[in-house]
Amino acid sequence: MSGIITMDDLTNEEIISILDDAERLLPVAEGRLHLPLLQGRILGNLFFEPSTRTRMSFETAMKRLGGGVVNLGDVKTSSVVKGETLFDTIQMVDGYTDIIAMRHPRQGAAQYAADSARVPILNGGDGAGHHPTQTMLDLFTIRRAHGTLENLNVVLAGDLRYGRTVHSLSHALTRFGCSVIFASPDTLRMPEEIIADLRANGAEVTETDDLLAQISGADVIYMTRIQKERFPDEDEYSKVAGAYKLHANDLDDANAEMIIMHPLPRVDEIHPSVDKTRHACYFQQAFNGVVTRMSLMCWLLSVPVPEDVEAAGGAL
Ligand code: CP
Repeated sequence: MSGIITMDDLTNEEIISILDDAERLLPVAEGRLHLPLLQGRILGNLFFEPSTRTRMSFETAMKRLGGGVVNLGDVKTSSVVKGETLFDTIQMVDGYTDIIAMRHPRQGAAQYAADSARVPILNGGDGAGHHPTQTMLDLFTIRRAHGTLENLNVVLAGDLRYGRTVHSLSHALTRFGCSVIFASPDTLRMPEEIIADLRANGAEVTETDDLLAQISGADVIYMTRIQKERFPDEDEYSKVAGAYKLHANDLDDANAEMIIMHPLPRVDEIHPSVDKTRHACYFQQAFNGVVTRMSLMCWLLSVPVPEDVEAAGGAL
């Protein structure tokens, strides 16, 4: 069983079906309806790197659906510090759980885990590699705002070199015919192999370092944090820290329906003045992680989401 390691593990039809299920699960995610579709199932949360949203939204999603959660917890208090390998850790948790959400600093670690696990693995971020469940909640957010995933103009801005969210998202967006504009400082450009892959698949890709010039034509501006922890050298980080700082004053020419997204956490790339504008979407985006992960877990565990969730559910 492999799970979801990159967006290549899902067809466009599967993506749409999972997003449709997520739409129906909204009343459950919001705590308005009791629907224990995953009662008796256990999620293993294995986070070898810090996380707030991914870890907590997976946990919330499983609990809202009536299931249980076991956590590795702080790596420093686990047997990893005694030298236990990732392989051995996975063998244990595989036996304790029905599905595993995992984040690891090493690119490729989620695939490595999936290759030896019996239960499905959901990649919650592997180094600078992929973050497909983030992409699913991003797609859900974009579709809710624009009513479609097709043919939108999406600006991905900031640290495109180390930012795994934009690696996964750019692949998914271009599969739906979106144009992507990569706005970054020169040293943080999207990796060449990703750009080559997107273009080979017919995607329209533009690169620039001028974020502000892209605002008026954008349907989505997706900001990212400069990933300080992935820089080999602190001096290199200081050269690009604070490269982009979006302020409410920068949005005067934005189209009314344009949304600003960010996987969070933010540092200084979105000024708090943006929070009160009609464009700010990042806190709603973070909430959408719950409903999207509910839907993903149901799909992976082959538990159908009822067509009429209100009729199937009960009062809390
Ligand atoms: N978006 C995201 O991955 O956030 P966390 O690092 O808090 O999980």
